[in-house]
Amino acid sequence: MGSKVSVDLLIKNGQVVTAAHKEYPVRGKQMKQLEVIDQGWVACAGDRIVAVGPADAVQSQVDITDETVIIDATGQVVTPGLIDPHTHLIFGGSREDEFYMRAQGADYMDIMAAGGGIASSVRATRQTPLDALVAAGRQRLNWMLKMGVTTVECKSGYGLDLETELKQLEAVRILQDEQPVELVSTFLGAHAWPEEFQEDQEGYVNYLIEVVLPLVRERDLAEYVDVFTEKGVFSVEQSRRIFQAAKDLGFKLRVHADEMNTLGGAELAAELGTSSADHLLMISDQGIDDLGKSDVIPVLLPGTAFALRKPYAPARKMLDKGLPIALATDFNPGSCPTANLGLVMSIACLYMAMTPEEVFHAVTINAAYSLGRNDRIGSIEVGKQADLAIFDVDNYKKIPYFFGVNLVTTVIKRGQVI
Ligand code: NIG
Ligand code: FE
Repeated sequence: MGSKVSVDLLIKNGQVVTAAHKEYPVRGKQMKQLEVIDQGWVACAGDRIVAVGPADAVQSQVDITDETVIIDATGQVVTPGLIDPHTHLIFGGSREDEFYMRAQGADYMDIMAAGGGIASSVRATRQTPLDALVAAGRQRLNWMLKMGVTTVECKSGYGLDLETELKQLEAVRILQDEQPVELVSTFLGAHAWPEEFQEDQEGYVNYLIEVVLPLVRERDLAEYVDVFTEKGVFSVEQSRRIFQAAKDLGFKLRVHADEMNTLGGAELAAELGTSSADHLLMISDQGIDDLGKSDVIPVLLPGTAFALRKPYAPARKMLDKGLPIALATDFNPGSCPTANLGLVMSIACLYMAMTPEEVFHAVTINAAYSLGRNDRIGSIEVGKQADLAIFDVDNYKKIPYFFGVNLVTTVIKRGQVI
C-alpha cells in the first residue's frame, strides 16, 4: 500500500463534470460532448487532483487515511472551479444612475460621449485611495468565490494616467497575495480617451506605448494588454500599434472587439494572434471565418448584451463553424454590473441558444485556455490543480436552469476547502 499516494481530500458520490477532452480548446461540436461521471469520486493530495472516476477505480489508486478530509457529495454536482476570463474588477465609485437612465432608453455610447460612462468611473477611481480599491476588490472577489469562481481575470482601465493605472494593477497584486481566488492581471490603459488627451489622440497612444507599457512590464504588473477597439474609442489602426508595442515587450493580448459596431476587431485579433477576442456582438462573417482559422478564443459576455439591451453575439453561428467559445461576466460599473457568472451561463442558454454542455466548457476549460492556463486548471483531471465547486443539485443541467440562484455549497482552491 505504501506506494500509493495518500489522499488529503476526497469528494465522494457526486455527479462529476470533468470537462476533460483530448485536445484544447474545445471547439464547435466537441463542446456538446461534456464528460460527466455519475457517482464519481475525486481524490486530491496537496494542491493536486490525484484520481478521478468511479468509486472502485479511485479506491484502487490511492490511500484513504484517518487524516483524509471526506466530503460526501451525494445528490450534488462537482465541477472544475469556474473561471471568469473578463472582468473590470477594480474601480472606484459606481454608476447606478446610468443603469436607470439606460433602463429608460438612454444609449450607452451616448452617455459616454456626453462625459459619463467610463470617464465617470475614471474620475472616481482616480480619487479612490489604493486601500479602498483593495477593499472593494476584496468584497467583489468574495461574491465571486461564493458562487464557485476560483480564477478571475482583472483589467485596469479606469485610470488612463500612469499613477491610477498602476494603482489599479497594484490593487490586483495585493489581492492576489491575501485571498484565495487566482487573479490574472490585464493592462487596459486603452479603454477610453482621458480628459487630458481629448484633443490629442495620437499623443495618448504614444504615451501608452512609450511611457506606460514599458513601466507596467518593468514592474511585472500585468500579463495581458487589452484595447477597447471601437468606433469613437481606439481605431483598428491605433489598436494595432498598441498591440504591436505590447507584443514586442512580451505581453500577451486580449481585445474588446466588435462590441457596439462592426469595426474589424475580430479580424485584427486573428491577424495578431491574441489570446482572446471579447464581446463580438457585431462580429462580421469575415471575422468569424478569420477566428475559425486561428487559436484566438472568442470570449462572449452576454450579461453585457442583456444589461445594454443589445443583440447577442452570434454564438450558434460560431459554434456551427467550429469555433471554441468561452464565457465571462464582463463585471464592470457600467455596461454590466453583475459578478454572477452563473447568471451569465443561464443568459447564454436562453438568449444565445447554447446548451448546458457548451456552457460548462465555456466557463471552465475554454476560459482557462484563453488565459493560457489550460495545462493547470479548467478541468477535473489527474495532475491538475484541485480547484473545484460543489453545487446543491443532483444534475448539472439544473445549474443554468435555476437562473440567478447561487447553488454553490463548497469551493475548493488548490486543494483547500475555502
Ligand atoms: O467591456 N466596452 C468597454 N468596456 C467595458 C465597459 C466599461 C464601463 O462601462 O465602465 C465593457 O463593456
Ligand atoms: Fe469589458
